[in-house]
Amino acid sequence: MVVKLADIVITAALPYANGKIHLGHITSTYLPADIQARYFRLRGDDAIYVCATDDFGTPILIEAEKEGKTPEEFVAYWHKAYSQDFKDLGISFDIFHKTSSGENKKLTQYFFKKLQEGGFIFKKRVSQPYCRNCEKTLPDRYVVGTCPHCNAEEQYSDGCEKCGRTLAQGEIKDPHCAICGTKPTTKESDHYFFKLSEFSSELEKWLVENEKLQPEVKNYVLSWIREGLRDWDVTRDIPWGVPIPLKEAEGKVLYNWFDNHLCYISTTLKYYSEKKADGRERWNASKIYHFIGKDIVYHHFLFLPAMRLGAKEFKLPEYIPTRGHLLLHGEKFSKSRGWYVSVRDFLNLFPADYLRYYLASITPHSPSDINFDWEDFQAKINNELIANIGNFIHRTLTFIWRNYGGEVPHPGKYDASDVKFKDEIANVAGNVGEELKKIELNRGLRKIVEFSKSCNQYFQGKEPWSNKTQAKNCLYLCINAVRSLAIMLEPYLPFSTEILWKQLNLQDSVHKQRWNWASKLAIEGGHKIIKPTILFEKVENEKIEEERERLRRLTN
Ligand code: MF3
Ligand code: ZN
Repeated sequence: MVVKLADIVITAALPYANGKIHLGHITSTYLPADIQARYFRLRGDDAIYVCATDDFGTPILIEAEKEGKTPEEFVAYWHKAYSQDFKDLGISFDIFHKTSSGENKKLTQYFFKKLQEGGFIFKKRVSQPYCRNCEKTLPDRYVVGTCPHCNAEEQYSDGCEKCGRTLAQGEIKDPHCAICGTKPTTKESDHYFFKLSEFSSELEKWLVENEKLQPEVKNYVLSWIREGLRDWDVTRDIPWGVPIPLKEAEGKVLYNWFDNHLCYISTTLKYYSEKKADGRERWNASKIYHFIGKDIVYHHFLFLPAMRLGAKEFKLPEYIPTRGHLLLHGEKFSKSRGWYVSVRDFLNLFPADYLRYYLASITPHSPSDINFDWEDFQAKINNELIANIGNFIHRTLTFIWRNYGGEVPHPGKYDASDVKFKDEIANVAGNVGEELKKIELNRGLRKIVEFSKSCNQYFQGKEPWSNKTQAKNCLYLCINAVRSLAIMLEPYLPFSTEILWKQLNLQDSVHKQRWNWASKLAIEGGHKIIKPTILFEKVENEKIEEERERLRRLTN
């Protein structure tokens, strides 16, 4: 019987619709959230994985202008391209929507009104950089200049990429317009602010009481609160964004970080309304997980919960799994420098499951940084995925294929080592599940690898090639262990496990199994498998050498 456990909503930080997704985002966010979602689905939860493109904001407007496209065309292009990338990586969104959708605009304006009614919005006159030549106010990235801290030139006015500091308006030295280079003058404008500071004690309480949030991240955020929170300017004088729903605010839109996280909710509502269910009820009955990278902690631990606390209609998240930056051979990814591997670059070289396996195995549930290293990648794939897991699967299947015409032998009486192995099969899914429940995805994978190691040892110890009587129990138990591996590896390796499932000649799809069925001996004596093929090809030296060489050339 399938027991329904829980309603779960999993979100992954919304990618800006500007072509800048790289392996770092996959590592910290889309892949872990996907593994988690797949695990919950296997467990029988009603888990949905929700994402969207983040369409608004000045950078996107500027880039669209540079390409001579309307922002709508620009974001539509990237929405489509990302959908393909995600699909090819096996990222199993239940819905992939966009922040510029009608649903999200509506919810965002509704939130603005609610917050205003609650007394959490106030108006203030601010003076802003303005370009006389372009006849535009110039928020955020529309102004470039020299960083006042490290003197790096050509930095955006909201933060320096060189030293990593965020800059307040007016701090940048030698400011000029990002479009035409003119030195900006200033112009006064009415802006709406969100009273973030009023939520300080409520936020602090929420953080302190929520034991599911990672302590290292939480302590960081608590220290920001104790230093004092600044009220937050949520207005932009640009033509691309959610219009502020007030007569007096014509021509003004909401800051992109006001509407983007609301898209988690509006997209969930859309998903459920298409299923003819009450989305609001479902949201509030669900456990909520927001997967993010550590650079957007501030927004997810302060803005997002404060806005929900103020509007009082949609519950806060239980979990905000935060992971670190990905380095490429010890250095930051940089597209301009070429120190970079895009999703496409990778998929042109190796199967998606290799990337998933490698990244999942090196990424802890913590904000510490992760290092992508081509040699390490090769070693993990060749020595672990192939020499351990792949080897066990392959030797079991081919042995049955060659010596028993593909028919699983009937077991006889078990000896002590059979009983021990049978118990391992019975316990492994529970053990691995303990880790996955805690979002410790790399540890879960480690336990699967250890299980596979002991499968190999059992096979080796039984010597089915020399001992015909022992062989039957051995192969019967081993083929069942292969099936268990297929189920447990499904969240990590969705493509290969489905192929394996077909080779095992089992019903349905591996994606439709239940996690705890992995502990059963469900393949019976007499069951026929189909002709096995090699699941995993070795990663050859030449390919790795080529990638290393490309990077080496960049450092010289
Ligand atoms: N687009 C943002 C970024 O890449 C993340 C948005 S996440 C959401 O930094 F919460 F705002 F939706
Ligand atoms: Zn200008």
